[in-house]
Amino acid sequence: MKLLFVGDVYGQTGREMIANYLPRLKKKYQPSLTIVNAENSAHGKGITKKIYNQLLENGADILTMGNHTWDNRELFEFIDDAAKLVRPANFPDGTPGTGLCIVPAGSAKVAVINLQGRVFLPSLDDPFRVAERLIREARKTTPIIFIDFHAETTSEKLALAWHLDGRISGLVGTHTHVQTADERILPNGTAYLTDVGMTGPYNGIIGVDREAVTRRFLTQLPVRFEAAPGPGQLGAVVLTVDEKSGRTTKIERILINDDHLFFD
Ligand SMILES: [Fe+2]
Repeated sequence: MKLLFVGDVYGQTGREMIANYLPRLKKKYQPSLTIVNAENSAHGKGITKKIYNQLLENGADILTMGNHTWDNRELFEFIDDAAKLVRPANFPDGTPGTGLCIVPAGSAKVAVINLQGRVFLPSLDDPFRVAERLIREARKTTPIIFIDFHAETTSEKLALAWHLDGRISGLVGTHTHVQTADERILPNGTAYLTDVGMTGPYNGIIGVDREAVTRRFLTQLPVRFEAAPGPGQLGAVVLTVDEKSGRTTKIERILINDDHLFFD
């Protein structure tokens, strides 16, 4: 079976890339499950109910989140009914929503876990120990386990992937918005990619208007971040997973932008 994972959808440009390319990607790769990181889908900050529904209508099966989960307060009103949304599992106990979702995918079941890193990000609960606990729980139902690790540093992402090698099908990083080219399958069958990259404005600075970001660096004064104008990009990865063992046998990285055209 195949799992398709699409990186951080950023603002309207990202949502348009999903609407335009997700059906084509699904037709080409025939995934049993499509997971999309949506933590920046509402103007770069969080998600709204309308966008939640729109992303599902456009082909996402599960949405993952990250450090911007609560930036749009509307989520507090609908997260209890948002069965397809997974937020970082290592938020403190009592946080609304869930960090683990087990869903049917073809003839199998897939566990999707979202975790957030702690290096250069808020000090949440330990993602390593939370991952171990959720993997034990998920493996009672299925060996096919996918983790979106929303984290800043390569080292934290690599460390968690190696730590979990053989216990999960794949760990793919999000949050930096820049795709890395280090996709591989670790010795015990866990697929790994440091960062899948963003789905949003191609000519901004990690999605944001260049002029505002540059002014911030030049002046150190607060500036208002808006999504960058112009063409879009899409970052994704496809894992081919053995249903019985949960091991990944193939990982394919996908990058679509004006410099990397998509062929059906
Ligand atoms: Fe993020």
